[in-house]
Amino acid sequence: MEAQSPQPATAEATAGGNYFVSNYPPFSFWTAEQVSETRAQLAQPPVREAPLGIYCHIPFCRKRCHFCYFKVYTGRNSAEIKAYLETTLAEARLYATQPALRGRKPEFIYFGGGTPSYLSVGQLEHLFAGLQDAFPWDATEEVTFECEPGTLNERKLRFLKEAGVTRLSLGVESFVGEILEQNNRAHGVADIDKAYGLARELGFPQINIDLIAGMLGETDELWQHSVERTLELAPDSVTIYQMEIPFNTTIFRNMRESGAPIAPVADWPTKRRWVGEAFERLESAGYHIGSAYTAVRKAGAPTRFIYRDALWTGADLVGLGVASFSHIGGTHFQNHGDVRAYSSALAGGELPLARALKMTDEERLLRELVLQLKRGQVEVQRFEQRFGVDIRTRFAEVFAGLVAEGLLEIDGGTIRLLRAGLLQVDFLLHRFFLPVHRNAPYV
Ligand SMILES: C[S@@+](CC[C@H](N)C(=O)[O-])C[C@H]1O[C@@H](n2cnc3c(N)ncnc32)[C@H](O)[C@@H]1O
Ligand code: SF4
Repeated sequence: MEAQSPQPATAEATAGGNYFVSNYPPFSFWTAEQVSETRAQLAQPPVREAPLGIYCHIPFCRKRCHFCYFKVYTGRNSAEIKAYLETTLAEARLYATQPALRGRKPEFIYFGGGTPSYLSVGQLEHLFAGLQDAFPWDATEEVTFECEPGTLNERKLRFLKEAGVTRLSLGVESFVGEILEQNNRAHGVADIDKAYGLARELGFPQINIDLIAGMLGETDELWQHSVERTLELAPDSVTIYQMEIPFNTTIFRNMRESGAPIAPVADWPTKRRWVGEAFERLESAGYHIGSAYTAVRKAGAPTRFIYRDALWTGADLVGLGVASFSHIGGTHFQNHGDVRAYSSALAGGELPLARALKMTDEERLLRELVLQLKRGQVEVQRFEQRFGVDIRTRFAEVFAGLVAEGLLEIDGGTIRLLRAGLLQVDFLLHRFFLPVHRNAPYV
């Protein structure tokens, strides 16, 4: 991808670049030079005990959405998909033999993409069985499966339920047909209603709906409509992202061609207001705000999201598939982003690693702090126990600044972002970064 500087953190207009802080340090600091050290680390038994999770990337979609920045392919035939699944299973088997992972059982599994629900029932059966051979699921508490609503039918949903999927996540994004079309989504509103109804009937333990605030064509009125329709369906959780326009999206490519400096979507204050209004509406309907992006239903069994919480507190994660990210024993690494390089490494019996970064203790602390702040609150004691550091003292200046701006409060041993802070948390997190990492590109 082309090297371009990210938008300044203070910009109010939506320009090109990343907003979402998905990890720390930024990916641009992970290097090919550190890959051999990572291979050597995987060839040793684990140094620290940590929960283990598996992420499996399915990079196929029916259409590429104009805002999408993920590694995805459209128009692949079944032979190409089969070859990809075989490669991913070979990768899982190879990981299972590494001393750092041998005999360990995943506590959580996440099928993401791309669109895992694009796979046929036969392909899914093969994939699930192969993964379970490599990493048995008998200690697995949560299996998340991402879906594009138009790819679901009763047979597929029934298979997923019986195969142990506990958390079904539907990429709804909007309940307005024209907005879905304008953003090149493959599904319509009727697909959402049908998929959701079937999933509910089948009794999945948890159904999540993803929405994006700030799609092309979004207005106050249409956004309110999407929030109200979401409430009518009453999912167990609602995830709301603020639209970002990374450099590898169709929207950014069009901006560059036309010379427009600003994306044709709402500005950041508007997107924050939309998410804030949605959160208030969800709270008044009995939801609890569990992070900067999620509202969970309070009634009934508590709605958990083990994958997120485990990752943000330092769990190990094996990322399978093209361009996937892993984190094991304090080292980050990422697979090749090109499917040919990914497949040819595995065909040669090698893990397909492209870049890696072994974190220092300080970077590990910073990573957990910034990721946990996205939940809205952090406990001082946790960092004392884990890193022997009082974060109130270590980050006194940053916290004082955020308190003075009315974005955060310190309540004894709890540090809490106020709603205004939570709604722009990804911009604020850079203040905690080491100076060299501040506002660095996430590519
Ligand atoms: C891998 S997709 C979910 C499954 C499936 N591919 C789909 O889109 O229905 C993950 C989610 O990322 C969010 N997303 C994708 N591109 C985004 C962007 N540019 N800004 C904000 N959120 C985005 C969408 O809410 C999407 O549902
Ligand atoms: S369906 Fe999901 S992964 Fe595929 S292009 Fe659209 S947002 Fe991206």
